[in-house]
Amino acid sequence: MNADSNTNQTNLAETDLQDLSLHVNAGLLMPGVDENHKIRSMLNAAAKKQLGDRLHLDSELPNWPAEYFNLTDAAVFQNANASEKQTILDLCGQAIVEEALLIEKCGMAFGVKMSALSECVEERMFYNLMAAEEAIHYHQVRQFLPNDGMKVQPNPFHHLLANLIENGDRNSLVFIIQVVLEGWGLSHYKQLADNCLSEAFSFELREILKDESRHHGTGVIFSKEREFSSASCDFIVSVLKDFLQMIQVGPQAILGAVESVLGELPKNEKLALFNELDGEAKSTEKLNTLRDLMLQNGGAKIVERLDALKSFTPYPAEECL
Ligand SMILES: [Fe+2]
Ligand SMILES: [Fe+2]
Repeated sequence: MNADSNTNQTNLAETDLQDLSLHVNAGLLMPGVDENHKIRSMLNAAAKKQLGDRLHLDSELPNWPAEYFNLTDAAVFQNANASEKQTILDLCGQAIVEEALLIEKCGMAFGVKMSALSECVEERMFYNLMAAEEAIHYHQVRQFLPNDGMKVQPNPFHHLLANLIENGDRNSLVFIIQVVLEGWGLSHYKQLADNCLSEAFSFELREILKDESRHHGTGVIFSKEREFSSASCDFIVSVLKDFLQMIQVGPQAILGAVESVLGELPKNEKLALFNELDGEAKSTEKLNTLRDLMLQNGGAKIVERLDALKSFTPYPAEECL
């Protein structure tokens, strides 16, 4: 009896210790406060220092032209009526903005976690500033979504990102988030800004890009001076394998938008659409960019392991449907 209660006490103490250890909630589904809550005016005053008159934009959901998604070459798109075409483009645009919104939301949590894990004052200062910038980015993006984006549901990529932030160690997080994902984000946001039909959204993206290039650059500096433990290496490979798989399967979001407007397509039409969207070539291009980013920034061993898993090779169209 005594021995049992001692054992229980030890277990309880261990549990307490674990509860005291750092846990950051990535906050994918973190709710917002009511519109009239007093915290809003304090927050607005702080954000206005950064955004000035752009704190309140009278903005609508941005659009991208059909060419941007390679939809102009797709027979099913060409045969759709004008309103169906517009709805498909609206859905594709909305998916882009929603994806950006939750990435920025996760960015706030990332800055907080990295600040807590910092080992020198300048490192902590950098991550505190970064967390603030991600909070501003979140506000910049949410203004373009209905209901300030509060109803946006996470997709599998967001879940991967949230899991990674909650469970990753300091060195793995710098490499995956700042070197790979933010490095990748630079070219992604630039393409979005260059092709967006909304001048207001392009402007906000270009402002965000200035901060993101600093976030990426700092990650590169840190990564080059740090060694990965073998546990970090395993973690990085397993996360990046899952991330790359989301690219290996091609433009699923566009296929999904087309089918949700035109109904489920027969397999042969789906295959034709996938090829018309140039799915495999686009995936190859993205995968090569990511591989180069890793290789150039201290990730040679990671690339070697991902090469062995064929993670940089797109799946053939038939396997993506
Ligand atoms: Fe950001
Ligand atoms: Fe960032």
